[in-house]
Amino acid sequence: MKIIAINASPTMKNGMTSALMENVLEGAKEAGAEVEVIYSQKLKINYCIGCFNCWVKTPGVCVHKDDMVSLLEKIKEADCIMVCTPLYADGMTAQMKTVIDRMIPLIDPHIENVDGHNRHVKRLKKIPAIALLSVCGFYEKDNFDGLVDHMKRICKNFQAEYLGAVLRPFSYLLNLENLMPEEVKKVRSAAKQAGIELVKNRGFSEETLEAVAHNPIPKDFFNQSANDLWDASIKNGKFLHS
Ligand SMILES: Cc1cc2nc3c(=O)[nH]c(=O)nc-3n(C[C@H](O)[C@H](O)[C@H](O)COP(=O)(O)O)c2cc1C
Repeated sequence: MKIIAINASPTMKNGMTSALMENVLEGAKEAGAEVEVIYSQKLKINYCIGCFNCWVKTPGVCVHKDDMVSLLEKIKEADCIMVCTPLYADGMTAQMKTVIDRMIPLIDPHIENVDGHNRHVKRLKKIPAIALLSVCGFYEKDNFDGLVDHMKRICKNFQAEYLGAVLRPFSYLLNLENLMPEEVKKVRSAAKQAGIELVKNRGFSEETLEAVAHNPIPKDFFNQSANDLWDASIKNGKFLHS
């Protein structure tokens, strides 16, 4: 399986999205996948301007001559896109949405009926399957519900296979190796297992996803510790990786 992981976290390698992604990709590579990581923050990708030139004037080709041109070529070659985004305001980052909007040259404007619903026709024989990876600051896993629903709808829109989502609430647990080494190790090895399952099974087991999302401390303690961290960060005028 050829995987292109598109990481649209503005904090790039300092962020928890990257930390989780690296563990998943380690497993995917071990299971035989060919993996490429793209940090969208490093690229120049303009917003879609809605001109539809990529559908009517130059079919399949966007008016913008920016870094999306080469990214689209990589996407076309991939079997799987791993959409790696932190949760921002209950959704994906603007950077990720910008990349996804710019993927419309991959589809054809004509409409067909698929399972009783209007969809655009695929321009390519093969649209890569999509797996989601996300982290968020809050404690509860249901914070991802809106993002997961959006991702599933995007897959239907592009007629791409949805392979599932690796989700980690309380993202900064991944940064607490000194305080909770065993707990962090369990989450990281579950993330690696998710990468193995992605390649071997084209999806994730519930057990593995639960282990990735597992919160090893009660919510009250999390809330208290998070508030203490914010107080200390405000005092120092500095957050973890800023
Ligand atoms: C602009 C912004 C919006 C955010 N919105 C949410 C949110 O709606 N729910 C949540 O649980 N966390 C939210 N967070 C927290 C991030 O998901 C969390 O800090 C995550 O670790 C960021 O990813 P990174 O570590 O890769 O930078 C938000 C953070 C930022 C900066």
